[in-house]
Amino acid sequence: MSPMVEQALKRFAWPHAKAPSRLVQAMNYSLNAGGKRLRPMLVLAACEALGADTEPAMPVAAAFEMIHTYSLIHDDLPAMDNDDLRRGQPTCHKAFDEATAILAGDAMSTYAFEAVLANVADPAKAIGCARELARGAGLEGMVGGQMADLEGEKKQPTLDELRYIHEHKTGALITAAVVAGGIMGGANRAQQQALRGYGHDIGLAFQVVDDILDQTSTAEQLGKSPGKDLAANKITYPRLMGLEGATKHAQQLIDSALGKLDALPAPQALVTIAEYFVARTH
Ligand code: IPE
Ligand code: IPE
Ligand code: MG
Ligand code: MG
Ligand code: MG
Repeated sequence: MSPMVEQALKRFAWPHAKAPSRLVQAMNYSLNAGGKRLRPMLVLAACEALGADTEPAMPVAAAFEMIHTYSLIHDDLPAMDNDDLRRGQPTCHKAFDEATAILAGDAMSTYAFEAVLANVADPAKAIGCARELARGAGLEGMVGGQMADLEGEKKQPTLDELRYIHEHKTGALITAAVVAGGIMGGANRAQQQALRGYGHDIGLAFQVVDDILDQTSTAEQLGKSPGKDLAANKITYPRLMGLEGATKHAQQLIDSALGKLDALPAPQALVTIAEYFVARTH
C-alpha cells in the first residue's frame, strides 16, 4: 500500500505549482522527508474494507497526508513544541525559516481541499470527504486539540481532559481519514458509524503510543527528539498511568476498534494497521 501512497502524493501534491519556488521547496522538503504515511493508508484501507476500487480514493489519501504534514510543520514551530528534528531531518523552520514554514503549512492545508475538490469525480463523495477533512482538521478537531494541548502545559490535566486533547489533536484526523475512505468506498450509514468508532479507538491509541515512545525511544528510531513531553512538563498517558498501564490501555483500545469491523466485507488491511498502531517502535 505504501508505494501506492507515494505515487498518489506525486500525482496530487501541487504538480506544476505556479508559486514562489522557496515556498514549493519547503513544502516538498517536509512532505518528502519520509513519514509512515499512516493516514493515507487508512483512507485506502477503509475504502478497500468496503470491497471497492481504491483508485478514486487516491487524491483523498494524498490530501490527508498534506493536512498531517502541515500539522507537523506548525507543531514544531518555536511558538508550539519548538522542535529541531522531524522525520529524521531538520524541521521545516530550521531548514528554511519560520515565516516560510508557517506559509508552507498554510499552503498545504488549503491545497488538501483543492486536491479533493478538483480530483474526486463524484460530487457527493467529494463534498463528503472535504467535510470530513475540515471537521477532522479544524476547530472541533485537530486545531482545537492542539490549543488544548498547549493550555495543558500550564496546568495538570485530568485523565478526562487528557483524553479530550488526544482525541482531538491526533484522533480527529485519523478518524476523518477512516471515514473519508469509507465514503469513497460507498459505505452506508451503519458502515460509516462502524468506521468512525474504529477510527476513534485507534486514533486515541495512536497518541497514547506516541506518548510512550516519547519516553522510551531514541531519536534514531523516531526521527524526532524524544523526551520532549517531560521537558515541556506535558501530562501524558504514561505519566498518569505508568508505562505498563498506558501500554495496556492502548491495547484495550485496539481490541475495541477491532470489535467494530464486523459490518465490513473486507477489513483485513484495517486489522493490520490497528495492530501496527500498538506494535510500532517509531
Ligand atoms: C506524529 O505522527 C504526530 C502525531 C500526531 C502523534 P506520525 O507518527 O504519524 O508521524 P509521521 O507522519 O510518521 O512522521
Ligand atoms: C502532535 O502531537 C499532534 C499534531 C501534530 C497535530 P505531538 O506534539 O505529541 O507530536 P510529535 O510528538 O511532535 O510528533
Ligand atoms: Mg505538540
Ligand atoms: Mg510535537
Ligand atoms: Mg509526541
